Amino acid sequence: MKVLGVSGSPIKNSNTDRAVKALLDATGLETEFVKLSDLTIEPCRACLGCVKTNICVIEDDGTPLAQKAKDCDAIVIAGYTPYSTLDSRTKAFIERMYQLRHRNSLMAGKLGAAVMTSAVPHNAPGAPPVCDMGIQAITHYMHEEGITFVGAVKITGNVPCMKCGFGDTCKKSGVTMIYGPDATVDSVGIKTFEKQSLSFESAEALGKEIARRLTQSSVEG
Ligand SMILES: Cc1cc2nc3c(=O)[nH]c(=O)nc-3n(C[C@H](O)[C@H](O)[C@H](O)COP(=O)(O)O)c2cc1C
Repeated sequence: MKVLGVSGSPIKNSNTDRAVKALLDATGLETEFVKLSDLTIEPCRACLGCVKTNICVIEDDGTPLAQKAKDCDAIVIAGYTPYSTLDSRTKAFIERMYQLRHRNSLMAGKLGAAVMTSAVPHNAPGAPPVCDMGIQAITHYMHEEGITFVGAVKITGNVPCMKCGFGDTCKKSGVTMIYGPDATVDSVGIKTFEKQSLSFESAEALGKEIARRLTQSSVEG
């Protein structure tokens, strides 16, 4: 049994990446981690060139990656939320999964999970539900393709202004926008997935639950 983890975060060894890896490790199964920014994946062209073959006509990395997804038993899709919505790499990957849909519904019956990082803390009172908007895009995809959604991990990430060098002086700083007029880069501090116990625990629990369900279904035949 194999679990595939796909991360749309372009940041090297990002919170998003590490959360996916923690989830994959917790399964104890064979896993593979794919970072979309290492690949070239165009969005779907809506040409319908895949309807007879279940293979996209675009000759980039999206076609072999979709075929890899076809061969896994569970898929974890992870993204982040630029301008409060799902990032474009993860979205393009999902669009290209359309090639596995026609007539044969090749993703149906698999398990799925989502990991989402937003700079706006997902648990702050009154905060917009940014993580949920990204997760919704993934769950709608999974629902449409007959993938059983097992759950999601939400992470509070870093607004880019924390690291750009101008976070305390820029008029458009996301540091004060998110954390209030008195917030500074130092007072907010860099957010790390491993220190967010709820997120870390939910990644481990989700990995274990995916493994439990896969093992149970293989025993039941
Ligand atoms: C161009 C850009 C725009 C962003 N806009 C938002 C936003 O509107 N809302 C939000 O919660 N996070 C926003 N973020 C932050 C990301 O969602 C996320 O916290 C961070 O990039 C993930 O990095 P990490 O995994 O290293 O923590 C933005 C990031 C970038 C690069």
